[in-house]
Amino acid sequence: MTSKKRGKIIAIEGIDGSGKTTVSTEIYSFLSSKGVPIYYSFEPTYTKIGSIIHRFLRGEIPLDSHSQALLFAADRLEHLSREIIPYIKQGKNVILDRYVHSSYAYQGALLNDLKWIMTINKFALAPDLAIYIDVPPSVAIRRIRKKGRSNISVYESVRFLGRVRNIYKSFVKKGELIEIDGTKEKDQVVKSALAIVCKSLKIKLL
Ligand SMILES: Nc1ncnc2c1ncn2[C@@H]1O[C@H](COP(=O)(O)OP(=O)(O)OP(=O)(O)O)[C@@H](O)[C@H]1O
Ligand SMILES: [Mg+2]
Repeated sequence: MTSKKRGKIIAIEGIDGSGKTTVSTEIYSFLSSKGVPIYYSFEPTYTKIGSIIHRFLRGEIPLDSHSQALLFAADRLEHLSREIIPYIKQGKNVILDRYVHSSYAYQGALLNDLKWIMTINKFALAPDLAIYIDVPPSVAIRRIRKKGRSNISVYESVRFLGRVRNIYKSFVKKGELIEIDGTKEKDQVVKSALAIVCKSLKIKLL
């Protein structure tokens, strides 16, 4: 057993194109440049299970809706046991570009059975901090198009993302997610998220 203090799990959530990767990688770079022990990771992963999900998201293979939910949950458990838990045990904080609330929001919107989604994810550790970047779906989709990304996910439609957003908002109401305004300038969004993370890690860097 290590006597080190356990690291924290910090999740960055939001709909496609909301700015999760921008925010989580900037926070990672900033904190590591200051010597704060931090590791960056994302979901779905590129393990065997995660790779099936990526192929589905790119539209290469079909997947039954319930199988999608089960694969996301299984990918998360692999992620936890192989990477997240070993890192937090070493005292490293882990910043995650999507985590369990992505399953609640996306598969919840898809299947309309949040209770079951929560049941299949019950073995996933709750995040210590989860930040939700709020942007309207139309803004998010405009950003994705502007970026000219070739791998448009099968989930990216204004109507579907609107339902995903509503579920995220319900978790903000419950107090599980901290909402930030993702429509602001990039630097401003990163700054707001960083301030919340620093407060949670009890570090004074800003
Ligand atoms: N606050 C912002 N204002 C304007 N554009 C932004 C902002 N944040 C990010 N972007 C741009 O929007 C695009 C999507 O951002 P990003 O890739 O970080 O989103 P994401 O949530 O990780 O998306 P995905 O779910 O598709 O991975 C990028 O081109 C990024 O540079
Ligand atoms: Mg991303």
